[in-house]
Amino acid sequence: MGPDEHVCVCHRVSLRKLQGFLAREQPRVPSQLSECLGAGTGCGWCRSELERLWTRWSEGSEPTIDEDWSRYLGRREMDKKRKNSVPLAIANQSQYDGSMPAVKAPEPIRIPLSQLKPGQRARVDCTTLDDLPSGDRCLLAAMGLGDQCELKRCSGHACIIAVDRTKIAIGPWLADRVFVEPIDDPTTRP
Ligand code: FES
Repeated sequence: MGPDEHVCVCHRVSLRKLQGFLAREQPRVPSQLSECLGAGTGCGWCRSELERLWTRWSEGSEPTIDEDWSRYLGRREMDKKRKNSVPLAIANQSQYDGSMPAVKAPEPIRIPLSQLKPGQRARVDCTTLDDLPSGDRCLLAAMGLGDQCELKRCSGHACIIAVDRTKIAIGPWLADRVFVEPIDDPTTRP
């Protein structure tokens, strides 16, 4: 893949930008690459590629993708088609065969807390909390921010969230690393 070709197709984040980010920011965990122009926060397909890049870099190898970009795009298209077609096939078949499994719900979208819109509600994804230093995890737990806990972003500038009736200010470093699943979008509410 060439340096100006996009590793994250959704957000048009090139290999060059990701390499620059790795060299400059020295991320401690792969999920920090989402701070590079939102890489991996769209359809989520490129997250495994981002993880591979990070692993290569953290092992001292050059963070590159050996695959030709057109093959890379082709693989993404095939994966997307597979993902879309399997539930449909199951749905069609299940009309005739009661033993077929229920249609799988789509994977939830996860975004960093910092990207939540003011007024938007979300659920905390605890799996990403494991990447945080234990001090931060304890602090979040003490503030009532646990697994699947619901919160609402109150303010647009500083990241202030409401958990139950308690308002908590989250620093930018942490707000970029805590991932949440948005529940609704305030701009589409009737
Ligand atoms: S390709 Fe990166 S999030 Fe979709």
